[in-house]
Amino acid sequence: MAEVVLGIETSCDETSAAVLVKGELASLSILSQDVHQIFGGVVPELASRAHLAALPAVVDRALQEAGLSLSAVDAVAVTAGPGLAGALLVGVVYAKALAYAADRALIGVHHMEGHLFAPLVEDPALAPPFVALLVSGGHTLLLDVPAWGRYKLLGQTRDDAAGEAFDKVASLLGLGYPGGPAIEKLAREGDPTRFAFPRPMLAEGFEFSFSGLKTAVLHAVRASDDLERDRAHLARGFQDAVLDVLVTKLARAVKATGYRTAVLGGGVACSRALTAAAAARLAGVARVAVASPRLNTDNAAMIARAGWYRLGLGERSDWTLDARADLPLPGLS
Ligand code: KG4
Ligand code: ZN
Repeated sequence: MAEVVLGIETSCDETSAAVLVKGELASLSILSQDVHQIFGGVVPELASRAHLAALPAVVDRALQEAGLSLSAVDAVAVTAGPGLAGALLVGVVYAKALAYAADRALIGVHHMEGHLFAPLVEDPALAPPFVALLVSGGHTLLLDVPAWGRYKLLGQTRDDAAGEAFDKVASLLGLGYPGGPAIEKLAREGDPTRFAFPRPMLAEGFEFSFSGLKTAVLHAVRASDDLERDRAHLARGFQDAVLDVLVTKLARAVKATGYRTAVLGGGVACSRALTAAAAARLAGVARVAVASPRLNTDNAAMIARAGWYRLGLGERSDWTLDARADLPLPGLS
């Protein structure tokens, strides 16, 4: 049984490595690439190059902080997809080389399964069944999780992901990238009654759609005669609309399944406004489990944790492991 797992994550614009010892976090190193800020979004080719330059040092740092050498590592867990093809490739090739050189096990991990396992790093008692809402820059997934490794898709987005909507609206408002944190901060000063934006597909079902909401914000921005004055109110109106939709569907899923736990994961789950809204809506009905922000943004600790779970099932990847931009979630039905 693998006790020491080295995790590697390079699917987007965070270069990260972590060491887990028997599921417990021994170290976590995250380098956020700032090169993309001047472009207002992630430039894939620049991301690959920055991963290539930083990954060896980030891995060394994680090992050093854990007080371990590579020979103490039992297995290497790496994000194999989904994500940016070139960025993923850097992590996968590096992980393969490490595992091969040290003669250790290798396991490819699905990025969103990583997000799902993030709360488990801090809360080892967390156990299915539960409903999970995974909200990131690329995905919006509402899952029924009867057991680890078994995922029933309740709903996903038909167009933009929740995080993507935050990023696009932030750009409309002239805020930087990534947009989520900037919108959350600004929204605190906004008046919730100034702009009433549509709540797409609120009334029924588990599916999401955010592109119409984004267009509604665009029209409101164009119609504003004083964007300086309106910016915070627009941010607040938009955030309230997104959170209302997310939390309404989450509560609907909790009700439909009868489960007593709801898990939030992915970068958007860094939003305190989201966790507060979910906890308020589910008070007395279900417990809301969410990792701290450091484990919700892209990080290698969650990848190591999901990898450790897969290794425990006896799964191993071989040297043909490939980076796949569109990797399907294992166990999804
Ligand atoms: O999971 P993640 O770090 O990367 C992907 O896998 O995509 O998620 C990044 C997304 C970005 O769209 C970012 O704007 C959003 O998470 N995000 C937030 C907040 N912090 C990060 N969205 C809303 N509120 C936040 N506080
Ligand atoms: Zn992510």
